[in-house]
Amino acid sequence: MIEVRQKVFRLSTKSTSYLFRILPTGHLENLHYGRLLAWQDFQGLYMKQNAGVGSSVLYEEGGYTLDLLPLEYSFNGKGDFREMPFEIKMPDGSYVCDFHYESHEILEGTLPMEEMPTAKGEEAETLVVHLRDTLHPLRMTLVYTVFSNCDVITRRAVIENRSDQPVEILKFMSMQLDLLMDHPEVLTLSGGWIREAQKERHRLPVGSFLQESRTGGSSNRHNPGLLLMEKNATEDFGKVYGFNLLYSGNHRSVVEKTSHGLVRVHQGISPHNFSWVLESGETFRTPEAVMTVSMDGMNGVSHHFHDFINRHIISKEFQYKERPVLMNNWEATFFDFNERKILSLAREAKKLGVELFVLDDGWFGERNSDRAGLGDYGENRKKLPSGIKGLAEKIKAMGLDFGLWFEPEMVNEDSDLYRNHPEYALQVPGRTPSKGRHQLVLDINRREVQDYIIKEVSHLLESCDISYVKWDMNRHMSDVYSDAVNHQGMAFHGHILGLYRVLKILTERFPKVLFESCSSGGNRFDLGMLSYMPQVWASDNTDPISRLSIQEGLSYFYPLSTIGAHVSESPHQQTLRKTPLETRFHVASFGVLGYELELTHLNLKEKEEVKKQIAWYKKYRSLMQFGRFYRFDSVRENRVNFQVVSEDRKKTVQGFFQKMQEPSPPFDVMPFKGLHHENTYVVRTREASMDIEVFGSLLKHVMPIKLSPGGLILRNARKLYRLPHNVEEYTAKGDLLSEGLRIHQQFMGTGYQKDTRMLGDFGSQLMVGEMKEEN
Ligand code: GLA
Repeated sequence: MIEVRQKVFRLSTKSTSYLFRILPTGHLENLHYGRLLAWQDFQGLYMKQNAGVGSSVLYEEGGYTLDLLPLEYSFNGKGDFREMPFEIKMPDGSYVCDFHYESHEILEGTLPMEEMPTAKGEEAETLVVHLRDTLHPLRMTLVYTVFSNCDVITRRAVIENRSDQPVEILKFMSMQLDLLMDHPEVLTLSGGWIREAQKERHRLPVGSFLQESRTGGSSNRHNPGLLLMEKNATEDFGKVYGFNLLYSGNHRSVVEKTSHGLVRVHQGISPHNFSWVLESGETFRTPEAVMTVSMDGMNGVSHHFHDFINRHIISKEFQYKERPVLMNNWEATFFDFNERKILSLAREAKKLGVELFVLDDGWFGERNSDRAGLGDYGENRKKLPSGIKGLAEKIKAMGLDFGLWFEPEMVNEDSDLYRNHPEYALQVPGRTPSKGRHQLVLDINRREVQDYIIKEVSHLLESCDISYVKWDMNRHMSDVYSDAVNHQGMAFHGHILGLYRVLKILTERFPKVLFESCSSGGNRFDLGMLSYMPQVWASDNTDPISRLSIQEGLSYFYPLSTIGAHVSESPHQQTLRKTPLETRFHVASFGVLGYELELTHLNLKEKEEVKKQIAWYKKYRSLMQFGRFYRFDSVRENRVNFQVVSEDRKKTVQGFFQKMQEPSPPFDVMPFKGLHHENTYVVRTREASMDIEVFGSLLKHVMPIKLSPGGLILRNARKLYRLPHNVEEYTAKGDLLSEGLRIHQQFMGTGYQKDTRMLGDFGSQLMVGEMKEEN
């Protein structure tokens, strides 16, 4: 709800309030962002400046210093010396500007932008605050949209040049939030290829903390999501602020702490190589930033983000729609396949319960390696004699949906597209462009390039029955120069605007096609892409132990329904780690499940196991994709717990994951969060089995006969027998479960008993809780 009384604005969500007021000068002072506050005399929140200001600058004689005020948005050159959200070369050539409140409006719903995605949904209210510069005819607008049901407020800013001369914008952040905090800490996600979304927590010194992507995309290096919290905040306790940005290009987050305990947060387009010339009469809009706050720790903030994304970012067609279990051929075949191979994989996948078959890279042009073919989306008839249409029909006839991989934003020099249109690639005249994965980036600033992509992708989607598209983008941007913009400082952002036009047209034209965004895995995991594509391939790294930290990291900002997670082969192709089949599944089940391995490498017993996994996942799919997700403050380095709870709190699944086996390990306790305390639940271990190979010569613990570990009998025995894991079942009320179930001990080398938990390195188990109906 948005209310304005006596120059105070109160924006309230279900459990939070955001307050600011108009100062006598016309500047806007932020008063509060935190718990829900009733209307009252808010003077207690006004910032007091009744001591001397020393060397500070007073805005006007007898007035205040802007430097010591929490401000809604700041302007350069009038005594606020903190990070500036906005830098512009004014018509007089100076960098000084001073915008004051002029008027405001309150609108029902959201205020969408044509050129960029915004959060959607009718249950929203928007506040538009108009400001004007005191000297030049420039107008600024601050836009706030309140999504009460998920405790989120979005922010963005707009500048309009009403002067008769161009102005140059050098920096324009989407939001500013000034807070008072004593010992703030930030949590961000950093990484790179195959190690995306690694969480980092830092205590802030006095000074600025900067998190920025300059790769052209939102990047695997620095995700746009950021948490800011009190010193002792944990997963479930403490005040935590969350920020994110609906943007897929270069972005920046800055948190500045001053010696007076003021903390300033900015998020927006990175000013790196950015300068936007705004002609007379033109308007520039920033991307939309997302803010939330919770008193219930980091899990609290994540729950707000998850609800917000599922309800207001994901397109209507896929909102809370269960995602199919897919089989992708990439790690099974790479470029080396033909129709027969693909059909045999699909047939096998179908038998195991898979619903969607995805044909990855290598199906078009001369794409037999990553050195050629990008840009030419005609089928490679040598590999696929009946074309994509024929293949899709055959796969459909098996009862599977069919999906296809594209990398439409790129081109190989060895392609007809490049031979015919070298000008389509980003490159500086006279300079040899640098390549990544042997490819160049198409200049999507150009209309004709946008139209080429729309035409190529539409052609395939119109002529074949394709229900899923994996949309890849496999390199960072370099040699950014475009003939389509007047000033090269506009090329990075213009590229993203071009991409959004393409994605908008395609997703509106094919609303039923499920798009999965990919960028060498999670190199573009952001709210901009999620506005068009409901799920993202989280990482090319499918090793379940690496995935624990990748998926956990992503979960701070993104719901499980958006996280693509596949079971692949062991030893893993990037980490060489050998992990149990059950753990590969257990980790992938906390996400959108898929399989990406050579199915013929599985023995009969393993196939039976996979079949059971898929059947189990389908039964609990809505819980695993849309349930309330909880992280745990790890008590032990070596173990990770994940938990999901259904909206009605009647069902829950908890995963217990062990990294390395500890000798004589401590007792394991599993606390369940989010259940009804007074109701009774039955909690039971998911039945799974383990490969007897892990025992080697110790098999004598388990079997009555003695076998040589490398011998023929054991190798054959593996194909015929897997050892069932212990199963425990408890009936208990939610209050007891919240204290923690004391589960069976793990194996300690003193002989095997059937109710010992045999986990070993990388072992795991799931426990499923269901509320008893008589309650
Ligand atoms: C990227 C993707 C992979 C796969 C390959 C194909 O690396 O992340 O999943 O699609 O491209 O070339």
